[in-house]
Amino acid sequence: MNYNFDTVIDRSNNFAAKWSEMEQKYGTNDLLPMWVADMDFKTAPCVIDALKKRVEQGIYGYTTRPASYNESIANWVVRRYGWEIKPEWLVFSPGVIPTISILIQEMTEKNDKIMIQEPVYSPFNSVVKQNGRELIISPLVKLEDGNYIMDYEDIEAKIKDVKIFLLCNPHNPVGRVWTKEELQKLGDICLKHNVKVISDEIHSDIIFKGHKHTPFASISEKFAQNSITCMAPTKTFNIAGLQMSQVILPNEEDYKILDSAFIRLDIRRNNAFSLVATEAAYNHGEDWLNEYLEYIEGNIDFAVKYIEENMPSLKVRKPEGTYLLWVDFSKTGLSDEEVAKALVEKGKVALNNGVSFGIGGDGYQRINIACPRAMVEEGLNRIKKAIIS
Ligand SMILES: Cc1ncc(COP(=O)(O)O)c(C=O)c1O
Repeated sequence: MNYNFDTVIDRSNNFAAKWSEMEQKYGTNDLLPMWVADMDFKTAPCVIDALKKRVEQGIYGYTTRPASYNESIANWVVRRYGWEIKPEWLVFSPGVIPTISILIQEMTEKNDKIMIQEPVYSPFNSVVKQNGRELIISPLVKLEDGNYIMDYEDIEAKIKDVKIFLLCNPHNPVGRVWTKEELQKLGDICLKHNVKVISDEIHSDIIFKGHKHTPFASISEKFAQNSITCMAPTKTFNIAGLQMSQVILPNEEDYKILDSAFIRLDIRRNNAFSLVATEAAYNHGEDWLNEYLEYIEGNIDFAVKYIEENMPSLKVRKPEGTYLLWVDFSKTGLSDEEVAKALVEKGKVALNNGVSFGIGGDGYQRINIACPRAMVEEGLNRIKKAIIS
């Protein structure tokens, strides 16, 4: 290994949301944070070097995106997922959820229907409601072995008059990396009913052995024209605090809608740091990412084994992607409230309560294992203390 992922770094004094927002969310900051989806690793050295150089220059005025910025994204997308995109399909956005919110405002009217699949990353639900649109939920189906699949019959039954389908690909929190066949089936239904797909692919780089990320839009020209893809280097390289993402819009009309909305809001420039970090990450960060993926898969395997051996009342399935474990606590004999209380008060560990992910989340907790293995072990010991004793 050329990179060290074992070093524990103190983030408690650094305005990190993961540490400083626990007081507000859990009533105390005295917990080991394994909740919000960022990592406790330093980013790739190539990103740190590019940022240092930028800091040292000392002037942080307005920026202009060079052509090489979008080219670095297009090269990454073809190298990592085999999808050839054109740099001119790309729109810069400070974040995926702001993009989704603006697309909802621009492409739908009040009370229009928008479909999501729960359990899912909770802003999918809130961004629809906060914009005054009607939420249509097609719950994922949980199989006997803990795996999840889409319910196509349910989707077909509910999709009439839906304007937008919000797809989470790969899926947070259940850890599915949707296959081409699954996406094809979903996309055909959306095409048949004239439903635009917004595919949130922010977790597309965190994929484990034996699985492959398929960008929804890469499946066919029809899907490309009927979809908008959101990607970002932020989860991949642990740089969410720099606030950037890219929207891929092969459909010219859709491109114009988003581009003109951002012009109206005057959202068009990267900040000085996201500008250099994105290019550095995508042009030079692949070795780091490959090693990081080995490490994180090691964490997942470690955690799954630990849970199976030490906490048989919990059920967990190895995720196909994402650094999030979706763990079933329903056989502990404790209610959701009792589990949440025990984790905070006895275990001193902060996890995401499954109910916050909507339908199907009850009984579950989401554990973020993107941290040095010693922290994963410490966190699991704390969970055990909370649940078992
Ligand atoms: C599926 C998904 N989409 C979007 C986001 C947030 O993206 P952004 O910070 O770019 O709005 C997250 C963060 O956890 C996520 O898991």
